[in-house]
Amino acid sequence: MKIGTYYYPEQWPRAQWARDFDRIVSMGLSIVHMGEFAWFDMEPSPGDIRLDWLSECVELAAARKLDVILCTPTAAPPVWLTDQYPEVLGRNEHGSPLTRHGGRRHYIPTSLRMQEASLRIVTALAERFGDHPSVVGWQIDNELGLAFDQSEPTHHAFRLWLQKKYSTIDALNRACGNQFWNQYYQSFEQILMPPKRDPGYANPHHCLDASRFWSRAWADFTKLQADVLKPKIGARWISTNFMPFHADTDPGDFDESLSLWSWDSYPINGFGSNHTNENFRIGDPTGVELLHDQMHSYNGRWALMEVQPGQVNWSGYPCLPYPGAIRLHLWTAIAHGCEFITVYRLRQPTFGIEMWHDGLLQHDGVSLSPGGAQFKQVAQEISQLPGLDANVTQQEPTAGLVIDFDHIWWTQALPQSKRWNQAEVWCQYHQALSRMGFRVRSLHPGRAWDTKDLKIIVAPSLQMIDQSLIEKYQSYVDAGGHLVLSARSALQDRNGQFFEQDRAHAIASLIGGEVEAYDALPEETYGKIDIDGATHRWSIWADLLYAGEGTKVWARYQDQFYAGAAAITHRRHVRGTVTYNGVYGDRALAESVIEKLCRTVGIDVTALPDRVRVVRRGEYAIALNFNDTSVKTPAPSGVKFAVGGPVLPAAGVAVWRIDGR
Ligand code: GAL
Repeated sequence: MKIGTYYYPEQWPRAQWARDFDRIVSMGLSIVHMGEFAWFDMEPSPGDIRLDWLSECVELAAARKLDVILCTPTAAPPVWLTDQYPEVLGRNEHGSPLTRHGGRRHYIPTSLRMQEASLRIVTALAERFGDHPSVVGWQIDNELGLAFDQSEPTHHAFRLWLQKKYSTIDALNRACGNQFWNQYYQSFEQILMPPKRDPGYANPHHCLDASRFWSRAWADFTKLQADVLKPKIGARWISTNFMPFHADTDPGDFDESLSLWSWDSYPINGFGSNHTNENFRIGDPTGVELLHDQMHSYNGRWALMEVQPGQVNWSGYPCLPYPGAIRLHLWTAIAHGCEFITVYRLRQPTFGIEMWHDGLLQHDGVSLSPGGAQFKQVAQEISQLPGLDANVTQQEPTAGLVIDFDHIWWTQALPQSKRWNQAEVWCQYHQALSRMGFRVRSLHPGRAWDTKDLKIIVAPSLQMIDQSLIEKYQSYVDAGGHLVLSARSALQDRNGQFFEQDRAHAIASLIGGEVEAYDALPEETYGKIDIDGATHRWSIWADLLYAGEGTKVWARYQDQFYAGAAAITHRRHVRGTVTYNGVYGDRALAESVIEKLCRTVGIDVTALPDRVRVVRRGEYAIALNFNDTSVKTPAPSGVKFAVGGPVLPAAGVAVWRIDGR
């Protein structure tokens, strides 16, 4: 298990490089990440490749036994490229350039000129450094994505993608419901990429396809680069760093390029309001853990490419992190099985848009920031725990959570209830499962499911469904599994069209009942339900259920004109069970449902204190406290702690060996 840092040598005087590398080593770090955004320094004019400076830095790292991650610099195209070929910048719907030089991410992935120039620089990098013994892996680009482009290369690529998907224009017209307002197309050539994900009053099915296509366009651009790297880098990994549930890129589209999935985590950003304690200085554990588990779900290899080192520049609420919070986030990623962690960035810049963004080192380039000191501490701690090696398997998951990127796009295109937040729905159940001590495996509708040992699977609010997903649900329940479905499930086909049938007909026999209607309330207006004497409020969505014979009603609506209608039901099948929670409530409600299910079907759980987790990795149990107050460490009594002790301080960590030694 190694941790390291981003370093941008091209941003600092050459005379400081050796000192900076020494500083990295003196902090106990063992990885340096370089090359991102340095295209101009690598190629100051077309074809004039200059990599000696980078080679010098790779050797400085090698001499200090640091692992090197190299990046392709395509997130920052040089000015000569966009100057000569403005089409690289894309177009907005009014025909002006979509982006411009002077920042980053100012290119469209469909531009042939961009692709040509990218191939040239990536080839040069691969040839020069591909087999360097210190280089351990490659990051392609940085946080891929851009608004929907409206220039011809993108329209063209979209048409080709649609043609491949539908074959005939009739099939496309049917899938998009183009009989509505006679929106028919006669040929693929007439189709344009929509300007946004939000259709306005145009066609939502078309926008859903556009989101699917746009993610594929970024995946194709990544593959172009990966195909250059692969023959030159041997067994080294290839990754790209994703943003959490960012609509431009579904990480599941990148199988052909990546051998390791990674993401960028900035949970302490001051978002939210009316905080009554200082937990906002520590961040929401659930949002972070959900992403860790998602990254793990593609091929089992994942890393935290960027983690917040301290205060950020971009949120507008640059709160000071709680002492220890950065260390807590490092340990959280370690607990969840990451292969390595690197941080953005070593030195806090003294210039540029991110000059208020912390680094591990302060503006003087030598003094540790509070985050830097925590990195140093974690490096020291993990060096004492060899059993945390990357190839040690993490704790086997005991619950599944079905996530599906299509639903991020679909609920943005057509939310119906405007506060619907699909990622938050997943967070609610991830938190509920984690709180009860489950390790969560992310499952995807379109991928094979390994459900062995999964005592519970939650498939929250997947309103688009197909036969293969229904079969997965059914066979899991037939095999004795406990399935939880929630509000707004199974209403439509994969094109987002309602079935010409009773609402949620496809799951009626699974849930043992019917979904008769739904309700959604105005702002700051709440309805109530009661579950086992505890009242929960809701506002965003509620399915009104009818429970068939033999189906138990676990909760009913307490108010509104339909008071008494079923809100949550539970159906026992021959071996397994299906629970349907019709309410988009809060996280506490999801916890109550999971806890009641465990009690009902005899799964032994002990709820951990709120915002406290215990996760196993290899030979160790790792306790994490995301509270601004201390708690008793949830460890067996008499255990010998490798890190921490019987009291888990605010934002604290404790580690002990599972075998008690
Ligand atoms: C990330 C980005 C980094 C840096 C960082 C600042 O999203 O990849 O390059 O800008 O944000 O928090």
